[in-house]
Amino acid sequence: MDLFNVIEARRSIKHYDPHARVTEDDFLRIMNAVLLSPTSYNIQHWRFIRVTDTAVRQQVEDAAWGQTQITQASELIVLCADPQAWDELPEHYWADSDSDTRTMMVGMMGDFYRGKAQLQRDEAIRSCGIAAQTLMLSAKALGYDTCPMIGFDEQKLAEIIALPQGYLIGMIITLGKSAQAAWPRAGQLPLSEVLKENRF
Ligand SMILES: Cc1cc2nc3c(=O)[nH]c(=O)nc-3n(C[C@H](O)[C@H](O)[C@H](O)COP(=O)(O)O)c2cc1C
Repeated sequence: MDLFNVIEARRSIKHYDPHARVTEDDFLRIMNAVLLSPTSYNIQHWRFIRVTDTAVRQQVEDAAWGQTQITQASELIVLCADPQAWDELPEHYWADSDSDTRTMMVGMMGDFYRGKAQLQRDEAIRSCGIAAQTLMLSAKALGYDTCPMIGFDEQKLAEIIALPQGYLIGMIITLGKSAQAAWPRAGQLPLSEVLKENRF
């Protein structure tokens, strides 16, 4: 499918065929595409939890006020991120570059994020958001459906997945085959309302 058709076809699907499966090849293809998403200074704040255990899946659904797509969908992925990733082995993110470039980028990264807690958190969330869109579009390109979700109790979900101290949960995404069409689009703002030239 052409990328623009994929973008139009992707919708938030809330009812899934519980018998459908995502093939392992497709799942890995989607997740490997996610790894190519851009991040500031190539920090790659993300860590992904694939929830395969049905009992854990039920706990997540309970923490999400009973949103049934969580147990119906073939796959459930929790997108987590580490706001401190900029300060944890930063050479790692430039491992394949030459040492001069690596030293320069690691220095710039530290100068940019050190002491700025809000910016560190914003960056982790930004990384999750871009990864999420890559995941959803890649899935649609392979014929699957998704729903991004933040409708859950973050503290409860953190306990369920044993989220490490200091990490955050960006969102969760269900992945599978639609059993019911999405609601009609709710009302996209026109370009004239959201696109300005040079300044507000
Ligand atoms: C960050 C985020 C959180 C969302 N949380 C939920 C959710 O908890 N439950 C749900 O059913 N849909 C959720 N949605 C889906 C939105 O309702 C949906 O994206 C929006 O209505 C536009 O519809 P579309 O994705 O089909 O174009 C979420 C979407 C985003 C981007």
